[in-house]
Amino acid sequence: MIREDGSTDEESSDAPEYELTKPVFFIGFMGAGKTSVARRLARRGSVASVDMDTYIERCTGKKVSEIFSEVGEEGFRDIESETLLELANRAPLLVSCGGGVVLKAENRKILGEKGFVVYLEVSVDEAAKRIDDVSTRPLFNSFENASRIYQARIPLYEEAADIAIDTTDKDIDTIAWEVEAVLRKEGILWQAPKSL
Ligand code: S3P
Repeated sequence: MIREDGSTDEESSDAPEYELTKPVFFIGFMGAGKTSVARRLARRGSVASVDMDTYIERCTGKKVSEIFSEVGEEGFRDIESETLLELANRAPLLVSCGGGVVLKAENRKILGEKGFVVYLEVSVDEAAKRIDDVSTRPLFNSFENASRIYQARIPLYEEAADIAIDTTDKDIDTIAWEVEAVLRKEGILWQAPKSL
């Protein structure tokens, strides 16, 4: 497996080798489990995954919260769009997107045209329970703010999604299995013949 920073994972040598025919974008509200599910799936199938926020932090040398305080949400959204385009044009990856990636129409276009979009659904109450450190999520500064953003986002997630998966009362493994089944059925994830 190739990690986000380009290093390889020696442990995965016995895992079946899968290939992606197009990028898979995980979208959904903060706390939906996008990063954990993409990672679990990547580990299981020896395919590469990248978390957009982590990638942005590596490229800029700054935490997402620092970017928000230095250039505001708008500045962050510009960096996010550039990053999405870059990742969408790479060899297919599992990409866990930041929760606000669907806000810009240009991003929704990239998601739809370049990849397969998996929407992980979570309620705002459940999201609040799952997020233990809100300091890393500037927009989850209060439950009221998060609820307002959540309501406005739902139609955008639904519009962008190729498939929606309800994550309520499910653990990461269960969600990852569900996603894997969909990706196989759609012919997006397939088992490459073992090289001798
Ligand atoms: C955001 C979600 C965060 C991060 C930033 C903004 C949002 O990512 O991109 O704090 O607008 O919903 P996660 O969804 O991975 O928490």
